[in-house]
Amino acid sequence: MIDNLEARHSGETDVNLFEVIYSARAMRRFKLDPVPEALLTRILDAAIQAPSAGNSQNWSFVVVRASDTRRKLGEIYAKASEIAEAMYAARGKPAHLTEGQFNQMMTSGAHLWAHMGEAPVILIPCLRKPVVPPVEALSLEMQDRHEAEIAYVERIRGASIYPAIQNLILACRALGLGTTITTNHLRCEDEVRTLLRIPDDFDSFAMMPIGWPVNPFGLLSRRPLREVVHADSWENSWPA
Ligand SMILES: Cc1cc2nc3c(=O)[nH]c(=O)nc-3n(C[C@H](O)[C@H](O)[C@H](O)COP(=O)(O)O)c2cc1C
Repeated sequence: MIDNLEARHSGETDVNLFEVIYSARAMRRFKLDPVPEALLTRILDAAIQAPSAGNSQNWSFVVVRASDTRRKLGEIYAKASEIAEAMYAARGKPAHLTEGQFNQMMTSGAHLWAHMGEAPVILIPCLRKPVVPPVEALSLEMQDRHEAEIAYVERIRGASIYPAIQNLILACRALGLGTTITTNHLRCEDEVRTLLRIPDDFDSFAMMPIGWPVNPFGLLSRRPLREVVHADSWENSWPA
């Protein structure tokens, strides 16, 4: 079976980078077919080409294929998603989404809440906790900056793993694999930590189901540039 899949999916499709970017929508329904290990290696190798602060490369990835562990991850994700569901209900529909778009996202999200554990692969990107030098290691002039430095390091923390996660999303898309970034599990992160034996000096940042998608990739719908891009200064919209 795996050999056949490898033969069918032995390399990148012929989509170019912009097609990949414009069609890598969140995929939440997967066939039960396994994903060949060589393809997982390929997307993981794409992931670790990402930038990280100071080129620290403090990432680690747990690739979960064991069915019992996936099932347990699925249970944790479902529990955490109940909290997320309540938050979404209280927050309501974002203004820029149509009722149809919002309902589609919620229906697709709810499907994953119930079926995360059935995805053939669940990938957990992790990052080592940042280390800020102790205040006494700093020069006297810099010691006043210690608290601000801790806040800075905390503020940029995810920025050293999310580029790798985006590489994973794009590499999956290029190979015809579906995935999506999810973060709901962080509401019950300790259970994931215990299950996967993630050491205390690492945190998990996402739970990514990966598999052959049931539905086709499709064009993304996003707010227009003129709403989100400013020319030279905030009051000027980008002329497009
Ligand atoms: C930080 C972040 C957290 C997310 N968490 C979840 C999640 O927990 N569950 C989920 O189903 N999707 C999650 N998503 C996926 C978003 O819902 C999705 O990217 C968004 O709706 C756009 O979907 P589209 O690319 O198909 O248009 C998350 C996305 C981001 C960037």
